[in-house]
Amino acid sequence: MNFSINNRRYIGNKYNLMTWIKQMILENCSERSSLFDVFGGTGVVSVKLMDIVSEIIINDFLYSNEIIYKAFFSQKNFDENKLKNYVHAIAEINADDLPDNYVSSNYGNKFFSISDAKLIGYIREDIELRYKNDELNEHEYTILLASLMYSFDRSANTVGHYEAYIKDKILRSTFRFDLITPIKTDIPIHIFRQDSNKLSRNVFADIAFVDPPYNSRQYSRFYHVLETITKWDKPVLSGVAMKPPEENMSDYCRNSAPRIFEDLIMNLHAKYIVVTYNNTYDSRSSSSKNKIMLDDIKMILEKRGLTKIFSRDYVRFNAGKTLQTNHREILFITEVKNFE
Ligand SMILES: C[S@@+](CC[C@H](N)C(=O)[O-])C[C@H]1O[C@@H](n2cnc3c(N)ncnc32)[C@H](O)[C@@H]1O
Repeated sequence: MNFSINNRRYIGNKYNLMTWIKQMILENCSERSSLFDVFGGTGVVSVKLMDIVSEIIINDFLYSNEIIYKAFFSQKNFDENKLKNYVHAIAEINADDLPDNYVSSNYGNKFFSISDAKLIGYIREDIELRYKNDELNEHEYTILLASLMYSFDRSANTVGHYEAYIKDKILRSTFRFDLITPIKTDIPIHIFRQDSNKLSRNVFADIAFVDPPYNSRQYSRFYHVLETITKWDKPVLSGVAMKPPEENMSDYCRNSAPRIFEDLIMNLHAKYIVVTYNNTYDSRSSSSKNKIMLDDIKMILEKRGLTKIFSRDYVRFNAGKTLQTNHREILFITEVKNFE
């Protein structure tokens, strides 16, 4: 199988809502030359809007997301046969014969079986060596790294993120290394890994798409295994879930969120500001309580201009497979007055 950009598990990704969101943007944003995807996440928002804009600026502060954007969006050359041959060579390896490595000693028998972890660690080190020895160009390097992440995410022993692994389970070795399929496009795509509030002061775009986290769950902690394997600086990991030292802790997940959100909105240079929001704030779990209320968002956006609000029922299942009925996805579209 070759992975598409949406073939990964990522909390809060908007893949299933994009037909609706795209329609709302088409109907309400008449100028659509450029899109600023301020909190890019998986990148699916940019991909789905690619055919209605002429330029994209995408940002997320996670290292793993930056590599995934470079892998899927770069239009630079890569040798497909070289990559396919590499995958075939990896398939010939008997993982049990490999020595222990950083991945197997930290994540073995936790997020992956021991032999899967050995193979993942071996591939990661090998990609780095080949890049350093100029056997891979930069696009080939990012394609292989993204492919490794998509491949191990498919076999990881988790419920979809790396906050915890499933205990007392006999882990089968299911890891298979497959390639991602980069996306062909004619439009320029500029990739950033910065804090959104800092970056937005310097970006000018017709549409700013704003999809921040709304509760206390930190993405850098949920996806720490992807971050650690991408950065490959091999920090000492700790705790049951083997997390690295804290990095990229988002203010959107703290009580300061309303103030940070207002700072972002007031400093965006865009003709339209599109904000997604879902009302999980009546949930019984305190970590999923929203840090910003619907009325705060409305009030802040109205400071920038006429704000329309659209909503859609969004059927969602929680981990216990019970239907959450009052779950609504809200979309704000603000037409900025005195755009500058
Ligand atoms: C709700 S997700 C975005 C999902 C995305 N729209 C999609 O469809 O995949 C929020 C994203 O914001 C990123 N993030 C959180 N705080 C940030 C900050 N201060 N600067 C940049 N990115 C941030 C997280 O890493 C996460 O990927």
